[in-house]
Amino acid sequence: MGVEGLLEGFYEQIVYEDIGKDLSGYKGIVFCGMGGSGIAGTFASKWLNHRGVKIPSFVVKGYELPPFVDDSYLVVCISYSGNTEETLSNFEEALKRGIKPVCITSGGKLKELAEKNGCEVYEVPKGFQPRYAFGYLLSKALCLVGISPEEMEDAKENVRENLNKIKEEGYRIAERLYGYVPVVYSTPLTDAIAERWKGQINENAKTPLYYAVLPEMHHNEVMGWNNPSLRNKFHYIVMYDAKDHHRVKLRVDITLKLLKDMGIVPIVLKGEGNSYLSRSLYLVHLADWVSVKLAELYGYDSLKVDTIERIKEELKKYD
Ligand code: F6R
Repeated sequence: MGVEGLLEGFYEQIVYEDIGKDLSGYKGIVFCGMGGSGIAGTFASKWLNHRGVKIPSFVVKGYELPPFVDDSYLVVCISYSGNTEETLSNFEEALKRGIKPVCITSGGKLKELAEKNGCEVYEVPKGFQPRYAFGYLLSKALCLVGISPEEMEDAKENVRENLNKIKEEGYRIAERLYGYVPVVYSTPLTDAIAERWKGQINENAKTPLYYAVLPEMHHNEVMGWNNPSLRNKFHYIVMYDAKDHHRVKLRVDITLKLLKDMGIVPIVLKGEGNSYLSRSLYLVHLADWVSVKLAELYGYDSLKVDTIERIKEELKKYD
């Protein structure tokens, strides 16, 4: 299947399953995972917080679990291949602490170890690049932490209904970004989306992308704008959510005003949809189309991730 076909099938990956855990007995939830898998945990954690779930949740993107994580925590290890060493390290560390992590994977060592140790495994279909299986990984993570079938269906329908619009907008944005380093200015409700944009533009379009988050960026990033010879090498994208804090939205307006005063015309993005998840997946899917079109404009194969694979091979020499 061509890459366009893969993207057109994104909404079909958003599927509800009745696997919700009773979270009330846990002190916290930890999602472990890297890159195209880890981002599913980031979104699940954001979703839990937005929902007002009164259990802290956070993401580990590295080898070590924080020292306070014990068997009162729900640990969710997400690795599409099941062979990512950071996530395997988290899994093994959790076992040592008497925790049986819940695993989301298509196979690999993670599945093998999870089954051997009597851990729950939720499998996603094989044969994708991890970042193209985001819908499957996210669906499992959200279902685990209790999303309703209605909310999931609404998000899926929203992407399906808007697919052509998102695709066309994505192509237009790619044309504007061509030749620039994209910089995304996001908000507390859109920073996970900015992280996904970074991953997709980096991996699919072989292009650097940086992002900063409001309100924090009003305390540092903005001073970089004083340097016109550098600031003009970037193309700016400002994204926010309808439900962001009112002072954050005010800061979005101020950001736009300041950029305008410098003669900068940013791309302004706000997700469309009824729920936080729907609006988020709208912008997530937009990044898919932007990145694939940008890859085409630069003449790159959007599926190839040779440098990531080379690093993994280099590391194997030291196993
Ligand atoms: C490749 C990709 C990478 C991987 C990452 C972790 O498509 O998106 O970011 O996701 O290297 O590997 P997995 O997902 O197999 O744990």
